[in-house]
Amino acid sequence: MSASPVLPDEPSPFSPEVLADPWHHYRRLREQAPVYRDPLTGIYFISSYRAVDEAVKNWEVFSNRFGVALAGGEEATAAAASGMPDVGDEGYPPVDTMLTADPPEQKRFRSLIAKAFSARRVNALSDRVKAIANELADGFANDGHVELVSRFSQPLPLTVIAEQLGAPAKDLHLFRQWTDGFLMQLGGMADEAGHKEAQRLIREFQVYFAARLEERRTDPHDDIISDIVHAKVDGERPLNVAEMLSILQQLLVAGNETTASAISEGIWLLMQNPDQLELVQQEPDRIPKLVEEVLRMASPTANMWRVAKETTELEGVEIPAGSMCMLRFAAADRDPAVFPDPDRFDITRENAHEHLAFGLGVHVCPGGPLARKEMVNGFETLLSRFDGFELDSTAPAPTHRPNVLLWGFDSMPIKFRARA
Ligand code: HEM
Repeated sequence: MSASPVLPDEPSPFSPEVLADPWHHYRRLREQAPVYRDPLTGIYFISSYRAVDEAVKNWEVFSNRFGVALAGGEEATAAAASGMPDVGDEGYPPVDTMLTADPPEQKRFRSLIAKAFSARRVNALSDRVKAIANELADGFANDGHVELVSRFSQPLPLTVIAEQLGAPAKDLHLFRQWTDGFLMQLGGMADEAGHKEAQRLIREFQVYFAARLEERRTDPHDDIISDIVHAKVDGERPLNVAEMLSILQQLLVAGNETTASAISEGIWLLMQNPDQLELVQQEPDRIPKLVEEVLRMASPTANMWRVAKETTELEGVEIPAGSMCMLRFAAADRDPAVFPDPDRFDITRENAHEHLAFGLGVHVCPGGPLARKEMVNGFETLLSRFDGFELDSTAPAPTHRPNVLLWGFDSMPIKFRARA
């Protein structure tokens, strides 16, 4: 076992230039130090496919209980919790459910939400997802140009999940604000003012959804929020409100930003690769393969936290107990050891589906089937109704938001022609 290699000229993984364009950084680390300790923060960055695959399957050592550390440590979490009433108008104490829990608790929560994400429920949503995609496209079909992120990629998954969580369309703008609050917290880069603002937004979200949960408790519908309120397996107690809110919070963030990013990245990749665009427009049966290649290339959940529960070794490098680690799914998905010529966008790639964009092991994304459906229907709608896609050079060039965990465009102004 040895210490992590030192890469003297390597910029901080949190620096604005790396956040804006992380791909060179991913490649350098993957090649030179697949397990790399950032000297400034002490965080271990895990970048090769093999190392990510090993760590993600070893949940006994690489724990998901990172919520406390990100909220500012034990003291900050205790202070936040003690300042909050247990139940009430002001807020609910934070609880670790799926993403920030380990088995066996995490498994219990997952089994309770399994019905909400079953194949039956996702298939039942099919017509509605298609209808929403078409309604959104109707809104700009005659304009010849559109800012795709705000008019299509974001509202598609947002409307699907909002309907499933019992929220009316007029409240969609609130979902966006709350998502920003959660992202601020999850990114681990917020200063004190940022933490406070995130807390405020999270409480606003809690008050709103506590009311929706109560509505569904007394008046169940055929939707995900009703499944969650009434979830109970094999004599288990039902979820309490704080647990349900924690789950809804994850669905909101995980379900919106990631899928929206994947749709925008897909159109971007097709515009950059006109031969692939032509191929999929001529042979729309290839759209499911397109979806896998987009997920591999974009890896919208680019990175995710872990905490080493004990001193361990990965790729020959010692990781001391208590270390914060970051799994770099996006770097692993461009590892040439698994994906030859990894930076080439190729919708005929045989093993694209082996990507780690949805993670793997106990935390593997439960929303994968829903995200895939939204992507398939989103691409089908755009590609069947429009062609001549190109960047709108009269608008500011698209940029990615500087978030260390979630990779995605802030905006993407494009031009297109309606197909005859
Ligand atoms: C393209 C879209 C998506 C991507 C790339 C994505 C990616 C991921 C990844 C990588 C993980 C594993 C995190 C880890 O190992 O710690 C995860 C977990 C999760 N995802 Fe997704 N996701 C997407 C869409 C969705 C959707 C649509 C939903 C639900 C509406 C969702 C809900 C969740 C939840 C609840 C977890 C936590 C599961 C657990 O820890 O047991 N995701 N997602």
